[in-house]
Amino acid sequence: MRVLTIVGARPQFIKSAPVTRALRNGGYEEFLVHTGQHYDYGMSQVFFEQLHLPRPSINLDIGSGSHGYQTGQMLIEIEKVILAQRPDCVLVYGDTNSTLAGALAAAKLHVPVAHVEAGLRSFNRQMPEEHNRVLTDHLSDILFCPTKTAVDNLLQEAIAKNVHQVGDTMYDAVMQFSDTARAKSDILSTLKIKPQDYILATIHRPYNTDDPSVLSSIWQALCAIDQTVIFPVHPRTRRKLEMMDLHVHLAGASLRIIEPVGYLDMLVLEQNARMVLTDSGGVQKEAFFFAVPCITLRPETEWVETVESGWNILTRPDAILQAVSDHAWPITPPPPIFGDGNSAAKIVNILTKVE
Ligand code: UD1
Ligand code: UDP
Repeated sequence: MRVLTIVGARPQFIKSAPVTRALRNGGYEEFLVHTGQHYDYGMSQVFFEQLHLPRPSINLDIGSGSHGYQTGQMLIEIEKVILAQRPDCVLVYGDTNSTLAGALAAAKLHVPVAHVEAGLRSFNRQMPEEHNRVLTDHLSDILFCPTKTAVDNLLQEAIAKNVHQVGDTMYDAVMQFSDTARAKSDILSTLKIKPQDYILATIHRPYNTDDPSVLSSIWQALCAIDQTVIFPVHPRTRRKLEMMDLHVHLAGASLRIIEPVGYLDMLVLEQNARMVLTDSGGVQKEAFFFAVPCITLRPETEWVETVESGWNILTRPDAILQAVSDHAWPITPPPPIFGDGNSAAKIVNILTKVE
């Protein structure tokens, strides 16, 4: 069994780490393709180091660009790699342009596609990820769903064959790396913050960053929060803030902008936060895993269970301050809806049985 894995963006390094580990521990051959979608040290290499990921077999160095350019360049280069490597299957993760390019290249060459984190839907076609997810699911031969909701979403689109509810590999990663994070990360002392004494914020969705009036409204709310806000800024957001000169002129004393942090520091920051404010899919889930209240800056979420359980609320930029101060959070722990931490083993077991 030869698996060709395709990753390229920050969350994919994290989602793939437990599966890559399980594949290699099981003695299976993996050819690891990094598309180069994310390329800064803090958006890419740090995750390979901290999650003990093997060096990519190849880095396509595609870099940034418009959706068509980026996806097209990836498609061209991934096709060459698949033709040269002739894998038994191509494994893709999540919903980025790297995911779609990998799935499309493989499907056109009649190489079976396996999709990890299949069945997620926001039902918002303004999101680039929604196109990537829908198309990737319809191109896939094996679909690994994290939740029952994801399985049901696929059924609504008449996808029922080879659909497996295996749990979430990001939960596996949290289970595998939380102890190491606690032992190794000194991020709280470096930032001189105490547990439960700060809010952790991340923002990177085009919906929140690309419209100056929306970004400015979020920025003003972050500055007005009367508690320490730790804000590791995604490069996309930093660029937009710089274009609007916001990062310089409006930063309040309680808002602390830092560079993106590595995975171990992020786990510690999440686990010890009083609250998380985010538009990230992965960060919403991780807040839930750690039973940290989450305010999501989006009109909808794919992770509906986190909202149904009361641990996550959806908020508009102009309602951030009210949500931070007024919301009542559950007293019961988050329910175990993301599996048992063994998703990767289940994925490898199923993958290696497929003819
Ligand atoms: C991408 C994914 C998104 C995912 C996010 C995770 C798509 C369509 N979007 O969004 O689903 O949630 O990654 O973080 O695939 N940049 C750098 N350095 C880097 C990477 C990016 O400076 O290492 C800057 C560039 O200016 C680039 C911009 O960030 O144009 C956006 O990067 P891109 O990968 O296109 O999209 P993301 O917003 O990161
Ligand atoms: N993350 C990180 N450092 C940061 C911000 C995020 O390690 O400064 C991790 C986070 O813990 C989660 C993943 O990156 O595992 C989420 O990625 P991102 O928010 O970029 O993308 P999304 O999940 O929205 O696709």
